[in-house]
Amino acid sequence: MKIRIINGPNLNLLGKREPEIYGGHSFEDYFKELQAKFKNIELSYIQSNVEGELITHIQEADTTCDGVILNAAAYTHTSVGIGDAVAAIGIPVIEVHISNTFGREEFRHQSFISKYAKGVILGFGLQSYDLAIQSFL
Ligand code: DQA
Repeated sequence: MKIRIINGPNLNLLGKREPEIYGGHSFEDYFKELQAKFKNIELSYIQSNVEGELITHIQEADTTCDGVILNAAAYTHTSVGIGDAVAAIGIPVIEVHISNTFGREEFRHQSFISKYAKGVILGFGLQSYDLAIQSFL
């Protein structure tokens, strides 16, 4: 099974960025832990700060992967285009967030992705990604 993790803007700064919200680990280190834990799954990971690039990666995953774990970060709350890309593809997409977005500012309560996602996992720190992978098993 091939699962692609797609991370959006500022998630390249995990470990340095607001550690009280997002924790002290870089995603690169955490990704190695996921690969070691889920050896029978072909995991790939990309991060982009650019909305259009994220859309292209979502579209490409449709023909190359069995599922997507998507943390579109701030674009979750603003991007009709990313929501449309999730609606357009045939493979399941799990929306994840590190923080509990419903416990934060009101603008983070809105998601353009959730309607089209197979499920949403949020608020468990980086473990949200682990739980999303388990949901595919
Ligand atoms: C986030 C939550 C978003 O509101 C925020 O803009 C992010 C990260 C999360 O994983 O908790 O950048 O998606």
